[in-house]
Amino acid sequence: MTKPPLRIALIGSGFMGRAHAMAFAAAARTFDLPVEPVLEVLADRDEETAAKAAASLGFARSTGDWRAAVNDPAIGLVAITTPNILHAPIALAAIAAGKPVYCEKPLAATLAEAEAMTLAAEAARLPTAVGFTYLYNPMIGLAREIIADGEIGEVTAFRGIHAEDFMASPDAPFNWRCEAAQAGGALADIGSHIIALARHLVGEVRAVSGQLHTAHPVRRDASGAPREVPIDDQADALVRFENGARGTLSASWIATGRKMGLGFEVSGTRGSIVFTQERFNELQLYRGGTRGREGFTTIMAGLEHGDYGAFCPASGHQIGYNDLKTIEAKAAIEAALGLPNAAKDFREALNVERVAESIRTSSREGRWVEV
Ligand SMILES: NC(=O)c1ccc[n+]([C@@H]2O[C@H](COP(=O)([O-])OP(=O)(O)OC[C@H]3O[C@@H](n4cnc5c(N)ncnc54)[C@H](O)[C@@H]3O)[C@@H](O)[C@H]2O)c1
Repeated sequence: MTKPPLRIALIGSGFMGRAHAMAFAAAARTFDLPVEPVLEVLADRDEETAAKAAASLGFARSTGDWRAAVNDPAIGLVAITTPNILHAPIALAAIAAGKPVYCEKPLAATLAEAEAMTLAAEAARLPTAVGFTYLYNPMIGLAREIIADGEIGEVTAFRGIHAEDFMASPDAPFNWRCEAAQAGGALADIGSHIIALARHLVGEVRAVSGQLHTAHPVRRDASGAPREVPIDDQADALVRFENGARGTLSASWIATGRKMGLGFEVSGTRGSIVFTQERFNELQLYRGGTRGREGFTTIMAGLEHGDYGAFCPASGHQIGYNDLKTIEAKAAIEAALGLPNAAKDFREALNVERVAESIRTSSREGRWVEV
């Protein structure tokens, strides 16, 4: 029996556009979805870029005008992987056209836009999903389960960091991620992942005391011209969670040597969990033990953990980054169909943005800020 098609419009074909295209294709073969995701139309900044990307990624059609893609009556899901400044206009147009939206993080370039997007989707009762890729890791699912089941006791502390080094050199060029109008900066770009992770595992953040830092205040753009950098290279915050836990959240794209240092330590009254995305098929769990023999146990990802088994029938063989994106795409498709799903929606992404904005306010005003 052939499945009904879910025709997808993808806007943007850079790093994330390619990842989404691969994930939609893989999701159809990895999971037993009730629909067949169809790579229908790819939109990019101009006709030529779009046509080239559509041919390489397997889309049936292409356009240099995202409005045409979003308003196409055949389309059942709009996926947005453009620079941040375009998230709001594209999402709002898609919602106005009655389409479910799957948008990359951070949700928008400003908090006001993130609020407008969330309210518009909720008013139209349209499902949404946001690309908080790392939350779909089966080992993060396991960590969440362990915490929720009280296996490490009461959570007392969360120390989280997202550190990379792609802007560590002062010679790293000025790009759209450096523009204030784009919600640029390490906090918005990668900080959104660690904030989302903290909320996913520990819960609401109640208050923050933040410090933003621009280590390289001038960078050269593609033409070689010097440009003032109005955003943060590094952000650090002390945080108080609603449930009383305390901790820190850090984001840095100048962490020399660190390639994918998204990690955390959660301490509880009876145990602890340690994780790093650089070894994301593993979770370190401490639950005490015989005196003199206590220590962290390494749990390898396997068939007992979330969607791992959909990719590989043998434990410990490991899944990869694009597999996490495939799990995320499945959640977005299920959300679009109105099925029970694990997707983080615009409301959750808005809550992440509120924490980030509070950290910015705190840094600017030099005081603790309630979220
Ligand atoms: N979930 C994750 O782990 C993750 C990782 C990286 C990036 N992101 C997010 O994904 C988004 C895109 O980041 P990226 O690294 O893929 O950027 P990128 O610069 O590699 O790609 C952006 C794409 O958007 C296209 N574009 C620009 N203007 C356009 C227009 N007017 N109409 C249509 N297309 C246009 C560009 O041509 C390009 O194809 C950002 O919001 C970023 O924060 C998420």
